[in-house]
Amino acid sequence: MTKTRVLRVDPARPDPRAIREAAEVLRAGRLVAFPTETVYGLGANALDAAAIDRIYQAKQRPASDPIIAHIYDPKQLDLLAVEIPPIARKLANVFWPGALTMVLRRAPAVPANIASGTQTVAVRMPSHPVSRALLIAANLPVAAPSANTFTRPSATTAAHVLEDLDGRIDLLLDGGETTIGLESTVIDLTGEKPVVLRPGGVLLEHLRAFVPEVTLAPRFVGGSGKTDTSEVPVASPGQMVKHYSPRAELMLFDGRDTASVIAHMQRTLQQLSKQGKRVGVLAPDEEHLYFAKDAEVKLLGSREDLQAISHSLFAAMRMLDGRSVDVILVRGFGQNGLGTALWDRLLRAAEGKVIHVD
Ligand code: TXA
Ligand code: MG
Repeated sequence: MTKTRVLRVDPARPDPRAIREAAEVLRAGRLVAFPTETVYGLGANALDAAAIDRIYQAKQRPASDPIIAHIYDPKQLDLLAVEIPPIARKLANVFWPGALTMVLRRAPAVPANIASGTQTVAVRMPSHPVSRALLIAANLPVAAPSANTFTRPSATTAAHVLEDLDGRIDLLLDGGETTIGLESTVIDLTGEKPVVLRPGGVLLEHLRAFVPEVTLAPRFVGGSGKTDTSEVPVASPGQMVKHYSPRAELMLFDGRDTASVIAHMQRTLQQLSKQGKRVGVLAPDEEHLYFAKDAEVKLLGSREDLQAISHSLFAAMRMLDGRSVDVILVRGFGQNGLGTALWDRLLRAAEGKVIHVD
């Protein structure tokens, strides 16, 4: 056990002393959790293989799940990657700082364990003032996966980080809630054509404006109706199906006719209640009344406002776990804009199973 120190910082203007202290910890090869605009990251020196190993241990994460390196200036790309294609520079210009991670060819100086032994490296330049201040003060590229235990929902508050990692990391910068609430979009630029491995904070629609040929790795194309996850190809190392999961079983519903899907969810809720199960529902504000009577309902925000839904999804999953529900019911949020990333996280929280209501 390590004693985890928590330093509160103003998310917009972090105290330079706290930042310096955190930077020292990183420079000493130790672990610091910090807020980014997507989710909290669990950081270590990206050029130090032993420090990277500490991340895998703290998260109890398999070595086969590679980690993103974070930078504060696009110039640092050349430290981390080689044979950088022009499209990477262009995307960096447009989307950085921000929620876009690019997979590139790894430079020899970067330890192989950041990339699970592959010849690639994933890089992102975050926009959050605390991440930026920390990266600048440490003057190192920082390897940082989401700051949660493996398979748990990502942490969007410092309390979530402590829930999973207290006693396993050296320092936590508490900068309040993260804004986006879902992880970055991961785009692989090492193949013949760019492929999105994980939809996230940067919308596919926006990426397509700059890389029209980009495709979404097949397993994320929603609504396949498959209940057998063994057939789903793994698009990216570490993107195995069970992920982002609450402890409760999550049942994901989908279908074209809203009224039928909701009616099916209500029937399911009643059946589960009769069996003595505690049921939680993740619902948009508009659908509260359909479930309020029989379930523990967590409101996510308006269905018209996918940013609000994304911001609250992981926190809501953790809250329902806190109420010890056995099952969580949720309906998809479509396949446009952030709906794609939401579908991906829900699909994996549901271990790949979808209940289609026709
Ligand atoms: O928003 C985010 O991306 C957050 C914040 C902290 O930056 N980080 C994050 O990291 O979500 P993590 O480790 O939870 O998810 C990163 C995913 C990995 O699971 C893997 O699928 C993909 O990015 N990835 C990382 N390095 C890769 C590589 N070299 N090749 C292919 N995929 C990679
Ligand atoms: Mg993660």
